[in-house]
Amino acid sequence: MAKEDYQSLYERSIEDPEGFWASLAENELEWFQKWDKVFEWNYPYHKWFLRGKLNITHNCLDRHVAAGRGDTLAFIHVDENYKETTITYGELLRQVNKLSNGLASLGVKKGDCVVLYMPLMIEQVVAMLACARIGAIHSVIFAGFSDKAVRNRIIDLQAKVVITADWTLRRGEKKRLKPTVDEAIDGLDFVKHVIVLVRDGERHDSTEREVDYYELVSEQEDIFAPEVMDSEDPLFVLYTSGSTGKPKGIVHTTGGYSLYAHYTSKAVFNLKPGDVYWCTADPGWITGHSYVVYGPLSVGATSVLVEGVPDYPSKDRWWKIVDKYKVKVFYTSPTAIRMLRKFGEEHLEKHNLSSLRILGSVGEPISAEVWNWFYKYVGRERCVVVDTWWQTETGGHMIVSLPALPQKPGKAGLPFFGIDVDIVDKDGQSVPDNTKGLLVIKKPWPGAMRTVWGDNARFEKYWSETKGVYTAGDMAIRDEDGYIQILGRSDDLINSSGHRIGTAEVESALNSHHSVAESAVIGKPDEIRGEVIKAFILLHTGRVHDEILIEDIKFHVRREIGAHAIPVEIEFIDKLPKTRSGKIMRRVLRAKEMGQDLGDLTTLED
Ligand code: PRX
Repeated sequence: MAKEDYQSLYERSIEDPEGFWASLAENELEWFQKWDKVFEWNYPYHKWFLRGKLNITHNCLDRHVAAGRGDTLAFIHVDENYKETTITYGELLRQVNKLSNGLASLGVKKGDCVVLYMPLMIEQVVAMLACARIGAIHSVIFAGFSDKAVRNRIIDLQAKVVITADWTLRRGEKKRLKPTVDEAIDGLDFVKHVIVLVRDGERHDSTEREVDYYELVSEQEDIFAPEVMDSEDPLFVLYTSGSTGKPKGIVHTTGGYSLYAHYTSKAVFNLKPGDVYWCTADPGWITGHSYVVYGPLSVGATSVLVEGVPDYPSKDRWWKIVDKYKVKVFYTSPTAIRMLRKFGEEHLEKHNLSSLRILGSVGEPISAEVWNWFYKYVGRERCVVVDTWWQTETGGHMIVSLPALPQKPGKAGLPFFGIDVDIVDKDGQSVPDNTKGLLVIKKPWPGAMRTVWGDNARFEKYWSETKGVYTAGDMAIRDEDGYIQILGRSDDLINSSGHRIGTAEVESALNSHHSVAESAVIGKPDEIRGEVIKAFILLHTGRVHDEILIEDIKFHVRREIGAHAIPVEIEFIDKLPKTRSGKIMRRVLRAKEMGQDLGDLTTLED
């Protein structure tokens, strides 16, 4: 696609978004019943494809099987020991149907919430799809979260069923998951069943509440008619950190999300049925939802699923996998690229990477330097590098460097079709080109979140922070060609290894430690992880700060949230910089940490 073609299609999509999306919805998806209205905006609430009926699993599974692609591989799972498990579209449909029947036999119905706490494995995808097939709302929790984090989410959702596995593999060790679930649901009577997947194939002793996964599915029929879902019926809730308060349950619905995950996968990655594709994300995050599960399945691709870390058992592990499975499209994060780069090019040179065509990046800004390395050593100067800026809330790609357009290393690219982007000042006025400002989206799009679970006020905030538009929370700059560079967050969110972490959440975990009186958390630049968490802590009088206390505080954060939220650095201080109204001035701590000018200190209390 030439720049002019992009421009004309883009303009058409912005002038007539309803016509644009409706024609895609018609051509790209199968519906049980067509919508009677494309879009309704009751600011800030919006609906797409009103009264349309569909089921996302029909588009991800049944239609491929019906089109004769039942024998095409849907997934190739590779564990840490390179043990491979594959599943075709036909078999995936049968497994999903069996679990759908199993869930139904436990009384799970449309609209019930089911929590998944599972490792990256085919059954994790089966579980998501089975929920979607019967109309239950799934909420996948990344298997690194602690029991307290899992418990809070289960309570928020009033989840009826939890699906888990006994362990996951990490650097050769079995990390047990089931005890976390046991702790999480202790005393929660509304959780009626816990389905346990025993990975070594042994039986799990069923108790009143616990059900063995394989026992549950073994006797079930492999046919299950997908529930007829309304476009606006919730498909899933995925929790993500906010700059203040508890994590938010982002709600995505069936119709708009189905189309958005499908069409972005197709347009941004050029994915076609049977293409071998590898997105390194875990389904516990939004990237996994849209670009491991729903998008690639909807287009009929073959996805590689790799359990474990990039450097175990060896530092060339990822390249070996690209080579062995002839991966065509490879989608990963700048953190992973920086880490692989540090390991050295010799690990790449041992492998044939000539199958690669498109390299994707997501989760944080990719610097021109890292972009160039990715292009040169992984892409061997033959592949395009596609940066994709988006968020849990947006459901799918928003600003992209489409493969056919001229590349600008270090810039995320141009707005995707139908996405009306602007860069504004704090009063909502557009800023001139090459001026830093807030990234906003002016109109809803089909993949956008519909609300925050149980908290409409928090949803409305996204659309009211800057009047009339969606405020993304990122700073950005647009050049004279319309290319947008993302500069990072404008709020108190930290992006560490591509994980989004709320300072308020970490501070609240720290403050619940018995020795901690007060704390403040900042993101500190880091060569590999983008940012690392640094905590400033004020202890209760009389507490001694030594190594033992530091370890204990770190362990405490792991228990409260999970390993990814542990502060890498802890500094004990006597006083936190605060405004006269008592708000912690993290900005001052950040500037001091980086040896920068402290800026305007007139509001400082002392
Ligand atoms: O700050 C942006 C950053 O990640 C945030 C969204 O985080 P999350 O909801 O966890 O979703 C991550 C995966 C989509 C954004 O507000 N971000 C995401 N992608 C990029 C990025 N920053 C720069 N460039 C990107 N490509």
